[in-house]
Amino acid sequence: MDMVLDAVKDMQATVSALVVPGKGILAADESIPTITKRFQAVGIQSNPDTRRAYRELLIGTPQIGEYLSGIILFEETLDQKASDGTPLPELCAKQGIVPGIKVDKGLVELPFTNGDKVSQGLDGLGERLATYKQKGARFAKWRSVYNIGAGHPTRLAIEANAEVLARYAAECQNHGIVPIVEPEVLIDGDHSIDQCAEVSEVAFHEVFHALHRHGVRLELIVLKPNMVIAGKSHARKSTPEEVADRTVEVLRRTVPGAVPTINFLSGGQTPEQASANLNAMNERHPKLPWNLSFSYARALQEPVMQTWKGDAKNVDAARKAFFHRAKLNGAAQKGQYKAAMEKA
Ligand code: 13P
Repeated sequence: MDMVLDAVKDMQATVSALVVPGKGILAADESIPTITKRFQAVGIQSNPDTRRAYRELLIGTPQIGEYLSGIILFEETLDQKASDGTPLPELCAKQGIVPGIKVDKGLVELPFTNGDKVSQGLDGLGERLATYKQKGARFAKWRSVYNIGAGHPTRLAIEANAEVLARYAAECQNHGIVPIVEPEVLIDGDHSIDQCAEVSEVAFHEVFHALHRHGVRLELIVLKPNMVIAGKSHARKSTPEEVADRTVEVLRRTVPGAVPTINFLSGGQTPEQASANLNAMNERHPKLPWNLSFSYARALQEPVMQTWKGDAKNVDAARKAFFHRAKLNGAAQKGQYKAAMEKA
C-alpha cells in the first residue's frame, strides 16, 4: 500500500516548519537515566518535578522560537504541563516550535560483536507513534551509535543499525510523522579525523541503502549525523575548517540531494566548538543540496543547566544563557557566527 496523501501532506508541512533559515532543533529528549547523570554533574536532583521545571525553563524561554524550529521531547515531557497548566507540547506550539519525540528505547549489546551496540524499540512502535501523534508530536527521533576501535564498528553492527533505523523511519512515515534518522559515530577515543571519515562514510552509506530498501521517502526525513572530527583523546584537535571540509565531503558521497535537511548532533563538542564547526560548513560550502543546521542537546544545554542549578531564582539568568547559545547557533546556520559574538 502506498503512503496516504494526508500523511504525506502532514509530513511536508512538518519539514517546511523545521527547515527555516537561522533556525535549528533543540534535543531535550534525554531519557531519565541520561538527564539524571547530567543533573547530578551540576548538583541538581532528578525527579519528575525537577525535570518538568527544567523543560519548562527551556521551552518557555521568551522568543526562543526565533532560533528554534523544533524541540525533541522525551516521553515523560509529552504528558507534563507548564506551571500555568499548559501542556508542554502545546507550549512548544505556542512558541512557534514543532514538538517531536524520541522513540528508540536505547542501546543493547549486539551479540558476538565484542561490544558493538544496536538500538532497540521497534516492537509496538506503530501503536506508540499513533499515541504520540495524538499528544502533538509531529516528528520523531531514533539514535544508533557506532564506536570506533580496533575492528569496530563491525560490518554486522553497521548493517543491523542501518536496518533498524530504516524500519523505524518507514513506520514513522506510515503514521505521517517525520523521522529524524540519527547515525552517530562516537567522538570517544583517540582515532584520527581520517578514521572518523572512513567509518562515517560506510555507516551513512549503509543507512541510505536500507532507507531505499524500506521505501522511505527521502524528501520527508531529517538526517542527524555526527560531524567528521578527530576523537576526543586524539593528539591533535580538528580545526573548524577541517571538520567542515571533511564532513561535507563524506555527506556529498553518501547523502542523496533529495534529503531536505541535515541537523548535526553535538556529540560531546564544547558549545563553542559546535557553533564554530557548523558555521565553517555553512560559510565554506554555501551551495549544497541540503540545509545544514543543528539538533544539539549538550552544546545548547550545558550553560543553561550550569546557570540554573535547580534553583528557581536562577531561571531568568539560565534563560538568557539559553537564548544566547541558540542565537549563536542560529547565526552559525547562516555562516554568520564569529567567535567574538561569544562575549556579547
Ligand atoms: P548531543 O548534541 O548532546 O550529542 O545530543 C544530541 C542527541 O539528540 C543525541 O541523541
